[in-house]
Amino acid sequence: MLHPLEQLRNDALREIEAAPDEKALDAVRVRYLGKSGSVSAWGEQMKTLAKEEKPVIGKLLNEVRNAVTAAIETRGEQFRSQKESGALAKLDISLPGTPHEIGGLHPLTQMLERSIQIFRRMGFALADGPDIETEWHCFDALNTPPDHPARNEQDTFYLADGRLLRTHTSTVQIHAMQAAPPPIRVIAPGAAYRRDEVDATHNAQFHQIEGLYVDENVSVADLKGSLEFFMRELFGPDTAVQFRPHYFPFTEPSLEIYVKSKALKRGEQWIEVAGSGMVHPAVFEAVNKARGDDAYDPEKWTGYAFGLGMDRLAMILFDIPDIRLFAQNDLRFLRQFA
Ligand code: PHE
Repeated sequence: MLHPLEQLRNDALREIEAAPDEKALDAVRVRYLGKSGSVSAWGEQMKTLAKEEKPVIGKLLNEVRNAVTAAIETRGEQFRSQKESGALAKLDISLPGTPHEIGGLHPLTQMLERSIQIFRRMGFALADGPDIETEWHCFDALNTPPDHPARNEQDTFYLADGRLLRTHTSTVQIHAMQAAPPPIRVIAPGAAYRRDEVDATHNAQFHQIEGLYVDENVSVADLKGSLEFFMRELFGPDTAVQFRPHYFPFTEPSLEIYVKSKALKRGEQWIEVAGSGMVHPAVFEAVNKARGDDAYDPEKWTGYAFGLGMDRLAMILFDIPDIRLFAQNDLRFLRQFA
């Protein structure tokens, strides 16, 4: 003979199994497990039982309650997963999806990242400086005298307080040396500004990567080796690199760097891509004076510096005819590099 509680359990399990939907299942749950449900009623009845019966029936009641609860849980889970697969079945997966515009990196950013990657492999760390500068960082500390044409109001954007938009990233050379004694090996990517006549190769804002390496016995050979390596990594092993004597106030000797490569569309002609040179002793002296020490003793330390024109390099690498395209936000242009 089944105990009435066992009978109750069997009825409940059968009804749970037969429940056609969540609503029906919930009704079963209320009928058995609800406050005035039949399982709960047995709980009440326990109080009236004889002492020796209590543990036996109590144990049975627990088993029944657990079995019914678990069965309701399982059946509910079935309904939920049916609902999910039902929704999936209604979905036509052959329909085209909603496209997500994920964007791409600006060609200048790509150029910058490639370049930084190459210099990192050569042991250069990243350095930084402000776009709004003091005249001292932009000119005086870089051995550029007050009567130098670069300081002319026609050539540079001055602020009312006498500061200016840096005309080159060479300002970061000074910041880096003020901040730490030698040896130093840094690159500083960033924007520079000039009041140039805007045309296909000149814009009021352009981008450079400054480089500075100061150590004992750094020579022109190191400068040439590093920049040749850089250009060949960037433009391919067949790239020819030429160093032509030039003048910058803050380097001596100074060299302009030209590249030529058959792999490039405009490869048959020499293209100027950077200024460079050996750090002028007067720059070390200006830094020492600002630091208040003799950390950059020009008798002990030598260094090379360079400034790479990023816009120019990107124009060559991606065969872009006009520098103004970089800043016009024309998607027809930008999408070609995404
Ligand atoms: N600052 C120079 C320019 O903008 C480039 C340069 C950097 C030259 C470092 C020599 C050394 O033209």
